[in-house]
Amino acid sequence: MSTNATIDTLHAHAGETVTLSGWVSGKRSGGKIVFLQVRDGTGLCQCIVEAGVEEAFATASQLERESSVYVTGEVREDARSVGGYEIAVSVLTCIQAAHDYPITPKPHGVDFLMSHRHLWLRSSRPAAIMRIRHTLIKAVRNFFDERGFILTDTPILTQGAGEDEQTLFPVAYFEQDAYLAQTGQLYLESACMAHRKVYCFGPTFRAEKSTTRRHLTEFWMVEPEVAFAELVDLLVLAVDFIWACVEAVLEHNSAELEALGRDLAPLQKIQKPFVRMTYDDVVDSLRSDEMRQWVEQQLVEATQARDAALKEMAQLESELTQARKAWKQDKLQAKMATLRETLVELERDVENLPKHLKLAQSFEWGKDLGGSDETLIARRSERPVFVTHYPAEAKAFYMKRSPDNPKVVLNMDLLAPEGYGEIIGGSQREDDLDTLESAIVAKGLQPEDYSWYLDLRRYGSVPHGGFGLGIERTLTWICGLKHVRETIAFPRTMGRMYP
Ligand code: 4AD
Ligand code: MG
Repeated sequence: MSTNATIDTLHAHAGETVTLSGWVSGKRSGGKIVFLQVRDGTGLCQCIVEAGVEEAFATASQLERESSVYVTGEVREDARSVGGYEIAVSVLTCIQAAHDYPITPKPHGVDFLMSHRHLWLRSSRPAAIMRIRHTLIKAVRNFFDERGFILTDTPILTQGAGEDEQTLFPVAYFEQDAYLAQTGQLYLESACMAHRKVYCFGPTFRAEKSTTRRHLTEFWMVEPEVAFAELVDLLVLAVDFIWACVEAVLEHNSAELEALGRDLAPLQKIQKPFVRMTYDDVVDSLRSDEMRQWVEQQLVEATQARDAALKEMAQLESELTQARKAWKQDKLQAKMATLRETLVELERDVENLPKHLKLAQSFEWGKDLGGSDETLIARRSERPVFVTHYPAEAKAFYMKRSPDNPKVVLNMDLLAPEGYGEIIGGSQREDDLDTLESAIVAKGLQPEDYSWYLDLRRYGSVPHGGFGLGIERTLTWICGLKHVRETIAFPRTMGRMYP
């Protein structure tokens, strides 16, 4: 008799006979023995099939990667095994025999992997990222639920722009024009007048004609909105929120972070309070001599690192020409693939840092911060950085003007450290009817299109505000990834809709 078990519970079955169900993720044969690596969604386990167990041995000898199997055998403790336990197989059943699984242990380019995303999700790296995503989303919900925020689902089909008109996705909606939601914010503002504290959490869409590492056309955003809240209250809420998110991932996913090669120190070092800068401070910093010297130093370091990486690559190439054994070649090729990625990064730095510096030093007051400006500010800080009080001309119509200086708005962007840049955008909202109406007109929009939104300023208007956090950008930072596309199961970008 055997019990059905999953790999994550093997520790409770040492010495017993169990049946696992899963997929063959690797195989090694050594004459009279076959080592199957089986994954079942909860972990990895080495399953040992000896020639003496004839039927199982014959099956195992035929099995290719990603074939689906039932494996029955005795659970043995083995410190050297992944997960600490292995199975001495007595019965092996192949459910479906896979042949020529396209993703091999050899390195593949990211385009190839993205085109096989439906299969790639099974590999350890995407699996680790998706588990961290799960934790993050749970932490997001817990945070707001525990603080009495009422979840309000906002519509995906909308009539107009919530953010930038240039990035609207039109949809044919019977006889009318409609667009996919860029944000739930305007609807949330009405909900917060009912419940005081609300949040929405769903997919949002932006027709970003951009191929940067930070942009998706479909991404998930969580947006809290609070009545009787001013900018300072939002800053406090955002700090506690980010803190809770990072803490949850560190608590539940340190193994996954390590598997991704994420250096945990920068995450562990994050401290309250976060840095606060006004837009004016940022402009001064971008134009400063100190910034110039710092970027020049970064450039020197990047150039040295690139030259060292080139040298290492040449060395690996020569080792590869001499390597005879297939496993040695695979190992070298895997090393070279990682190094190639590092090289691309370093080349990019060497090429971009001078451009970024030039843009920074000639930055003009009034412009929105560009990705490169954010990167420079965020690279110089160990903690997340709030940037507040942007020029009204650079921001959306709904942001409240500062009473001290009507040229700027009471907004905040949060830049993630290590160069990751903006993960939160938010503001106090304009609560005065006339001022809001003029702001709509000034941005070239039609007040008629916003008449229901303007009602909120006609019937019991109060100071209020909120922010939006992009899940994928936040994950990119927490996981230490280079590109946002790996943080969602099926990314949508300007260049990709498949699979
Ligand atoms: O700064 P954004 O545009 O703010 C809003 O949409 C507000 N209505 C939110 C609010 O106040 N309720 O977007 C918020 C966040 C960004 O900081 C970023 O993390 C993410 O959404 N984001 C994107 N993520 C991936 N790809 C894109 N194209 C993104 N655009 C914004
Ligand atoms: Mg923004």
